Amino acid sequence: MGEGENLMGKIHSHEITPEHIYFSRRKFIAGMGALVAGTILSSACRPQKITPEGTGFCAGAAASASTDELGAKLTPCNDVINYNNFYEFSFDKEDVGDAAKNFKTSPWTVTVGGMVNKPRTFDIDELVRRFSPEERIYRMRCVEAWSMVIPWLGFPLGKLLKEVEPQSRAKYVRFETLYNPEQMPGQKIDLLAWPYVEGLRLDEAMYNLTILSTGLYGKPLPAQNGAPVRLVLPWKYGFKNIKSIVKIDLVEEMPVSTWAVAQPQEYGFYANVNPEVDHPRWSQASERRIGELARAKTLMLNGYGNEVAQLYTGMDLTKFY
Ligand code: MTE
Repeated sequence: MGEGENLMGKIHSHEITPEHIYFSRRKFIAGMGALVAGTILSSACRPQKITPEGTGFCAGAAASASTDELGAKLTPCNDVINYNNFYEFSFDKEDVGDAAKNFKTSPWTVTVGGMVNKPRTFDIDELVRRFSPEERIYRMRCVEAWSMVIPWLGFPLGKLLKEVEPQSRAKYVRFETLYNPEQMPGQKIDLLAWPYVEGLRLDEAMYNLTILSTGLYGKPLPAQNGAPVRLVLPWKYGFKNIKSIVKIDLVEEMPVSTWAVAQPQEYGFYANVNPEVDHPRWSQASERRIGELARAKTLMLNGYGNEVAQLYTGMDLTKFY
């Protein structure tokens, strides 16, 4: 994908590739090895009413409404699955789906441990059966100033964390993506500190809006969107929404995330969507909604301020960005 126009309208160079990665892109492409063939997870989810037309994954895509609660239109299914950030597979957003098509996501387990009374390894199919993922239509605002509105299927992360009984010393939750360079060719290149790591404060993780997603548009997650299980929390920039999680640890110290290692001045731990705090290289006041022509104003905490602002009472959000 080059700079300039694409089928979804005007794009800015920063939307394509962060600068430090851009210069190493050829190295990345050179390192793309063969992918291990595998099967795609097919756990059951309950579609509701059929909305958009589509082919392939998007045939029979289902959502219960055509907008979110604030009236923003759902991003068409085809855009949700064809414009992705998943650097383990490709740095080209429109290439991720193809690069991830043989990613083996079954069987899959998530190990939850650290400062908990009952550490445990969960089978993802068992979690899906037990926790019955439900639809949550959330906005996702990427730090690169584009956004989508996505009907996720998921269950509150807090439900899972309660089962392992966090100890009182635990203050943060640390998440890790699968490390498997044979399947994820991007991990053969040293541009990011693999595996991808993200973190939340424990109260953010326990908050009801924070979900582990296992599907979208009424179907199990496609590989490019983080199959079989990824984090989704709508008031933070998209990079917090770590994909293909295999490990969750309750910890005392603030986890250091992959992006904070790469560029600490650009990717803060909190990463709360904030139109008043610009990115060092561009404004965060507005966003390009994928699939639409007009730009939208970015809302404080991505429009979820009524619910989550109280998590940050007394904190200077320009300092804790
Ligand atoms: N998780 C992993 N493991 N690797 C990644 O490269 N990219 C992040 C996040 N989760 C990423 C990840 C970024 S930058 C964004 S914007 C969202 O995933 C994109 O999610 P989507 O492709 O489902 O829209």
